[in-house]
Amino acid sequence: MESQLVYADLNLPRNSGIERSSPPSLLQNHCQGPHWHNFALKFGCAVIVLLALTVIGMSVSVIFIRQNTSIEKTSMDAQENRKEATERPVLLTCPMHWQKIQNKCLYFHETSKPWSDSLADCSTRESSLLLIQDQEELRLIQNLINKKAILFWIGLNLTLSEKNWKWINGSFLNSNILHVFGDAKEDSCVFISSTQFNSATCAAGNRWICQKELKPVRNKVIYSFS
Ligand SMILES: *[C@@H]1O[C@H](CO)[C@@H](O)[C@H](O)[C@H]1NC(C)=O
Ligand SMILES: *[C@@H]1O[C@H](CO)[C@@H](O)[C@H](O)[C@H]1NC(C)=O
Repeated sequence: MESQLVYADLNLPRNSGIERSSPPSLLQNHCQGPHWHNFALKFGCAVIVLLALTVIGMSVSVIFIRQNTSIEKTSMDAQENRKEATERPVLLTCPMHWQKIQNKCLYFHETSKPWSDSLADCSTRESSLLLIQDQEELRLIQNLINKKAILFWIGLNLTLSEKNWKWINGSFLNSNILHVFGDAKEDSCVFISSTQFNSATCAAGNRWICQKELKPVRNKVIYSFS
């Protein structure tokens, strides 16, 4: 008895399984059998494939558009760089009538005026009265002055309060590098000639030299593009 009961319990799921599988066969019969089922499967698959293709197509076009815009962007960047490269050399060349010496452009004035007038004149030309770094630069500039008797103001004068020679950029003269000959008295300003580096009274009329500085750093930037 007991073993029969166990047998019946074990058989129950199998029977119910068969029962469950029978309703679809009934449905199949109602919907004209496996043909309808096949059609539904195929249609479903087609829809899924279509959806997948649409998604793939859309993502491909998105990637394409992105690449295109990035290509456009880089070509725009390149144009920008080229523009900068062509604009920058303008800053590297001296204006007409200005002489290039090392990284400066110099203008030698033909008229004679007091020191303060020459200071004002250079600033109206977006430049400053000449500053001289060292003996070597002094020699180079003196070599450009072909007539001996002509004197040119430079951007160096005496400050009474500090009793010292001061460049117009605010730095004091280092007398170990350049030495001013002549008096260091009230109202003294410095001029150069082809042979001199001297002081004179600031009210005296002399010619003068203006300078514009070129930026050698920009030069390096241009070379990195080419
Ligand atoms: C001012 O000019 C002098 C002469 O060229 C130079 O030695 C000095 O370093 C300059 N000072 C500044 C603050 O640029
Ligand atoms: C010397 O130069 C400074 C500018 O650097 C100016 O203010 C001052 O008036 C000048 N001194 C004379 C006596 O011209």
